[in-house]
Amino acid sequence: MKTIIANWKMNVGVRESVALARGTLLLLRGRKFLPQTIICPSFIALSDVKKVVARSAVQLGAQTVSHESEGAYTGEVSARMLTELGVSHVIIGHSERRQQFRETDEMINKKMVQALSNHLIPILCVGEQATDREMHQEKNIVKQQLKYVLASIRLKSSDQFMIAYEPVWAIGTGVVAQLTDVLLMHEWIRLTLKEIFPSEESASFSIVYGGSVEGVNAYPFLREQEIDGLLVGGASLKLHQLKEIIEAASSVIEAQTL
Ligand code: PGA
Repeated sequence: MKTIIANWKMNVGVRESVALARGTLLLLRGRKFLPQTIICPSFIALSDVKKVVARSAVQLGAQTVSHESEGAYTGEVSARMLTELGVSHVIIGHSERRQQFRETDEMINKKMVQALSNHLIPILCVGEQATDREMHQEKNIVKQQLKYVLASIRLKSSDQFMIAYEPVWAIGTGVVAQLTDVLLMHEWIRLTLKEIFPSEESASFSIVYGGSVEGVNAYPFLREQEIDGLLVGGASLKLHQLKEIIEAASSVIEAQTL
């Protein structure tokens, strides 16, 4: 299985989101080997986009969720509200939220709890800064992020979650990470998750890569068994780019199936 997650960020309003969702559906139509496709519009477009994807295999994700369950939290959207809208996935702890909205590991941990207890599948983002990598600290940083955020979480066997490895310096910069570095980090994340959840092998998780993915660079990542998919920002807003990424995923799935 390969997963393509489209993170539209704060780039498109309701009308454009509906058009993009329709365009994404068209890209998938008639294909025999389909990646799991999750589109993440802004909160305001979730409801309309849900109508577009309702009878398709495309799933709906939110870009964030409140760390609280309900109450006097002006402007927040709870996990229960997202479930009510038919959202299945939620991006948690994206570096843009950590940096620009001061989300702490403690908050991100609470968001994970909210998501899991409301049957949303979290897409937890982790990744190092450029300076961390310069100082060879990338593994320590990612391990710390996972430990802080996941330490107190008790998984049920039915729980699913995704980790998105997104080096901060690769997001929106056009500088894509080296495949070998991504493979090493994915392996490290798997080892760390085993440490955190030694007895909970039955809970299933997958690890995707994100950061300046485009049509031209998607295939080498998708071809690797260790990489379960891609989290795509900028390129997911351009249907010709998304088409190439979906084609790359389909050809990998086809090759694995035959
Ligand atoms: P990008 O964004 O593909 O534009 O680098 C990825 C992300 O932020 O999830």
